[in-house]
Amino acid sequence: MGKLNIFLAASEVVPFAKSGGLADVTGALPKALRAMGHDVRVVMPRYYIVDKEKYALKRLEGSLGVPMGNLGEAWADVYEGVLPGSDVPVYFIEHEGFFGRKGLYEEDGFSFIDNDTRFIFFSRAVMQLAKKLRFRPDVIHANDWHTAAIPVMLNTHYAYDPDFAYTGSLLSIHNLQHQGKFYKGAMDALGVGWSHFNAHELEEYDGVNLLKGGIVHADVISTVSQKYAQEIRSHEFGWGLEGLLNINSYKLHGILNGVDYEEWSPSVDPFIAQQYDLGDMGGKAVCKAQLQQTFNLPQRSDIPLIGLVGRLVEQKGIELLAHAIWRLLEMDIQIVILGAGEKWAEHYFSDIAGKHSDKFGCYIGYRNDLAHQIEAGSDLFLMPSLFEPCGLNQIYSLRYGTLPIVRATGGLDDTIENYWNDQTHGTGFKFYDATSDALVGTLHWALDVWHNDKEGFERLQRNAMEKRYDWEGAAREYDALYRRVIQGRRGQQGVDE
Ligand code: ADP
Ligand code: GLC
Repeated sequence: MGKLNIFLAASEVVPFAKSGGLADVTGALPKALRAMGHDVRVVMPRYYIVDKEKYALKRLEGSLGVPMGNLGEAWADVYEGVLPGSDVPVYFIEHEGFFGRKGLYEEDGFSFIDNDTRFIFFSRAVMQLAKKLRFRPDVIHANDWHTAAIPVMLNTHYAYDPDFAYTGSLLSIHNLQHQGKFYKGAMDALGVGWSHFNAHELEEYDGVNLLKGGIVHADVISTVSQKYAQEIRSHEFGWGLEGLLNINSYKLHGILNGVDYEEWSPSVDPFIAQQYDLGDMGGKAVCKAQLQQTFNLPQRSDIPLIGLVGRLVEQKGIELLAHAIWRLLEMDIQIVILGAGEKWAEHYFSDIAGKHSDKFGCYIGYRNDLAHQIEAGSDLFLMPSLFEPCGLNQIYSLRYGTLPIVRATGGLDDTIENYWNDQTHGTGFKFYDATSDALVGTLHWALDVWHNDKEGFERLQRNAMEKRYDWEGAAREYDALYRRVIQGRRGQQGVDE
């Protein structure tokens, strides 16, 4: 079997709507699958922020009826566009009541109270859309809790539907912390019947857990790095689902994310002050000076500059940094941070930036151009995550010759090779304990190399810049997983390939 029909459903897709790395993945993987010859199509909600004119979206004829269990039927409009730079179709599910709001999942820091209904609706709409389009997917690829109800629906509502007779499901977990846990009233919208509200499927502590249901019902489950696929089977990283994941480990796989090097390479990056590459690193010094200027820091080349970009949330280890910051400020270094997230962190880091403006710069908000400039202009890039399913910024950093200092967890551990004083190995610096001491100690070590072993530092930069984590390789691994899904399904039904 060569070409596959793949329906990829996600709550966010670059460039239409993004809150984190999930959107980077769902915007890039389909293009790589398309290049392999597959008929891959993407479905996402038509949020208020998705500009129909800018992306030339066309409305499909007729409305889409979406059965909502005990809540009756809801109706959606469907729009069609393409992933920019490709011919991959993207379908947008429009429903004013559910998605005609500013935020994707929340506004002003408060989650929408009806997120269960919104994403159960979206999941059911994905199934209905496949029917409407007469697109018979070999695999429906669901992502995170938002679409985790799809594998459940496939095995219940659509179990005997001939349109899905040969359809299997893959559920990718990008972040196990967020599981879609709701009051059990969510069963009404799901409409699969209370017999599925049990500890082996959707029920957890008398509430509904959508991701749990997805894990049980999906034919295959994947996470975004191999290390994370192992970690989530333990108490420390399992968020209560480690037992279930152990039972289902036979169908659990890890595939490392790729990155889009057309967007994230210093040799072609339009956002940075001067492009550079391994052959001529001159531009990196220019980018550093520019970054110092942007953050009003003294323009000195002889002082190491450390960058951080990311959501300011517990996952990213910002508490470790918050505790370490006073010791860092005693060192002869500069630090710049770009991020938004928990209010305490936004206030705390902004406050320090005000008081130590000669050493510490902070931009609270979301800015893609600045993210690129920090990757290019910094000497070292900090990612002290408590857990990290994959992480993209450290992979970007490698390409920019900005050596990552990371906690050895999940994708950070899989992508960064620790510095060895053996003259050959290494692409960055790792620490293991989730403590401020470990962070500070490892930073000291990295600074020591920067100051006292220029050759060693440059060797690491070279190793880092030569590494490639492209989507082509990752797409081949997904291809293999899709075939596992199909084999499992057809095996069950006794149908030969
Ligand atoms: P996560 O998905 O957990 O947030 P990833 O490292 O996988 O972490 O992806 C984060 C993505 O979001 C990267 O593309 C990163 O550049 C981007 N990003 C995060 N915060 C910001 C910000 N404040 N401004 C610009 N880009 C950001
Ligand atoms: C999640 C994870 C991040 C990963 C991204 C894309 O947001 O937190 O580590 O890179 O998904 O898979």
